[in-house]
Amino acid sequence: MREEPVRVALIGMGWWGRKMLSVLDTVPHEIRVVRAVEPNVSAVRALCASRGVALTADYADALSDPQVEAVILATPHALHEAQIAAAVTAGKHVFCEKPLALTKAGAERAVALCREAGLVLGMGHERRWEPPIADLMAKADAGVLGRIHQIEANFSHDKFLTLNRDNWRLNAEHAPAGGMTATGIHLLDLSVRLLGPAESVWCICERLSSDLPQGDTVAAFIKFRHGGTAYVSASLANPFISRFAVFGARGWVDIRDKAHVEAPDGWIVTSAITGGPTRTVEVPPAEPVKDNLVAFARAIRGVEPYPITADHLINTIALLEAVFVSARSGKIEPVA
Ligand SMILES: NC(=O)c1ccc[n+]([C@@H]2O[C@H](COP(=O)([O-])OP(=O)(O)OC[C@H]3O[C@@H](n4cnc5c(N)ncnc54)[C@H](O)[C@@H]3O)[C@@H](O)[C@H]2O)c1
Repeated sequence: MREEPVRVALIGMGWWGRKMLSVLDTVPHEIRVVRAVEPNVSAVRALCASRGVALTADYADALSDPQVEAVILATPHALHEAQIAAAVTAGKHVFCEKPLALTKAGAERAVALCREAGLVLGMGHERRWEPPIADLMAKADAGVLGRIHQIEANFSHDKFLTLNRDNWRLNAEHAPAGGMTATGIHLLDLSVRLLGPAESVWCICERLSSDLPQGDTVAAFIKFRHGGTAYVSASLANPFISRFAVFGARGWVDIRDKAHVEAPDGWIVTSAITGGPTRTVEVPPAEPVKDNLVAFARAIRGVEPYPITADHLINTIALLEAVFVSARSGKIEPVA
């Protein structure tokens, strides 16, 4: 017998909340959006009405609604931690957009609260559901690439150049190191997934060709506890590029997204295995944002565990926190 769809409330109906609403339209048997919360109600009244989704301005309305089983947080970063705690108190599962928290202690609290309450904690790291990244992770786990030595990754776009300079995304409280919380965080997550906990990081964040208050160009050089390094960079002031390259003792893979995940257009993957030729293949478009949310719903229904583990969540935010410290100090900083 087919399970009932998981009934969710979307919290924060800005850019990404609307993206998630649109992908969830395609999976009505897995997830049903029954409620939305957005302080700027008039901006999304017509959209929510067209989908039959109840809309209010107050998060408490979603938390007190007995038909809501889970909340999906697409809100400013510094709100995530308290919103997760409130959801757990109300007995709701949580899918949180990235970053989970801005400190390691905050990530540990969020993970512990959900675990102790027996609630699923999903995370907006949809890059893991991009088919070439999923294939890369499977190959790495199976040892096909040999020991992984290095990662080079860049995820940049110039979408924020037109934002008002008082937008929360350009504010030090929510986004202290250029594009690291916007795009770089996805690359930190993948690096931790492949190389384990980080040991130290050196981060340089500069303002090179814009007036973005927290800088437009960020680069982090990471040393991992069990060996291996990653160079993760992001610009908020150059045209879109998303590249994730992994180099191992037996092979390497270089993945380029043809478009931002907002509107996926497929991937170009170049790879080589020792002794073989260098090959380039095109991978057709997929919808990783949807697939991540479906994995969350399946975990709630007990079909299979959600694949982003508590250790991955905490280790990624520990690294993010050290990136912030290094961006300020200009020095190599330890990862807690
Ligand atoms: N996974 C991805 O690829 C991806 C892409 C873009 C954004 N995001 C994440 O999505 C989240 C939102 O980013 P965005 O770009 O959509 O920002 P946004 O500013 O467009 O949207 C945020 C919305 O939250 C609303 N809001 C503010 N306070 C609120 C509150 N207390 N309760 C409910 N809603 C509130 C705002 O009014 C706004 O509409 C962030 O965590 C961001 O990092 C993820």
